[in-house]
Amino acid sequence: MGFTIAIDGPAASGKGTISRQLAEFYGYAHLDTGLLYRAVGKKMLDGVEPIEAAHSLRAEDLDGDALRTPAVAQAASKVAVIPEVRQALLDFQRAFARRSGGAVLDGRDIGTVICPDADVKLFVTASPEVRAGRRHAELVERGMDVDYDTVLSDVRERDARDMGRADAPLRPAEDALQIDTSEMTIEDAVSAARAAIDAKR
Ligand code: DC
Repeated sequence: MGFTIAIDGPAASGKGTISRQLAEFYGYAHLDTGLLYRAVGKKMLDGVEPIEAAHSLRAEDLDGDALRTPAVAQAASKVAVIPEVRQALLDFQRAFARRSGGAVLDGRDIGTVICPDADVKLFVTASPEVRAGRRHAELVERGMDVDYDTVLSDVRERDARDMGRADAPLRPAEDALQIDTSEMTIEDAVSAARAAIDAKR
């Protein structure tokens, strides 16, 4: 079994960027587990029953800008409350984590539920205002017409649902290193993460 890095945190905390950079640096495979929930959420918006959608997910459902919209993000957070949906996605995530070449997984419950024995666990946070600012800039950059206040209330609503659900709520694992990126550059955050990883390798 390879080295496993579990990275959790709320929406737009910077965990995706940090995960990609770490995976590239160490030559590990990377799984953005939010994409699984987004794909199920998108199918629900298209009229498919979420549990059935989670069981029939295929690789080609997982890419594309269609999953990176605010409506799909909210739908993802809603289907993520359903225990049968989470259960249906569990084996795929665990198998990915066991890859011999090493793996980085990012999401909400990686350190707590998917990979409780991960070699390194990070919990990446930032204030809701900073996260909404980043997400707003990203959406505007992609040509979407959204205002900051709407993005902020979306972020808060998703935080509340992801942290408040009964099954696998968003919370730091006891042994996770917390990184608050509110006033950090991405380079600083990645350096802090690398220091923690290098100490364990
Ligand atoms: O990371 P993201 O914003 O793409 O995730 C979208 C939603 O999916 C998030 O609001 C909650 C859900 N999710 C989850 O419940 N567990 C995960 N491991 C990853 C995402």
